[in-house]
Amino acid sequence: MDLLKQLVFLEGKPSKPRLIKRFLKKISRSGIILVAEVDGRIVGAGGGYVIGSMENIECERYGFIEFLVVDENYRGRGIGRCLLLDLIDRLKAKGVTEIYLEVDPRNKAALSLYRSLGFTVSYLTMNLKLDEILGKRL
Ligand SMILES: CC(C)(COP(=O)(O)OP(=O)(O)OC[C@H]1O[C@@H](n2cnc3c(N)ncnc32)[C@H](O)[C@@H]1OP(=O)(O)O)[C@@H](O)C(=O)NCCC(=O)NCCS
Repeated sequence: MDLLKQLVFLEGKPSKPRLIKRFLKKISRSGIILVAEVDGRIVGAGGGYVIGSMENIECERYGFIEFLVVDENYRGRGIGRCLLLDLIDRLKAKGVTEIYLEVDPRNKAALSLYRSLGFTVSYLTMNLKLDEILGKRL
């Protein structure tokens, strides 16, 4: 929970503990949540799931990595890479042949990690901030 709160905060969004908890429960029921522990303390976490062929217009089954975060005091020690590799293996074991994720293009560390494992840019996510365009004509 704390790590996810950090991640949401990093993304510039307000932390909503109750909703984060609900979200984690949902992923843990149908997907995969991994944690990295050092001396019994959780210092990293990653989560993903399979998107079924009935859930997207391309009618394909693929994996999605929803979050990956390492406590800032434990970064740069290989924990993020280890979590990501394990997530990829487990999604592969669920029969997916492709895995997607979303990343802020300014996030150098994450981009470098994903690229080093062979991830490439395939789609661009676009976002319309309705609050900011209020008053302007669409
Ligand atoms: C991205 C993140 C998960 C990486 O975790 P980590 O445990 O520090 O990463 P690792 O030590 O396993 O490093 C793996 C690779 O990431 C890249 N990397 C890690 N830290 C980096 C940094 N500060 N600058 C540039 N690249 C970096 C490198 O490619 C590194 O490989 P190398 O050691 O062979 O150079 C971690 O920085 C983090 O939690 N960031 C905040 C949350 C976040 O941005 N999550 C991703 C959201 S999409």
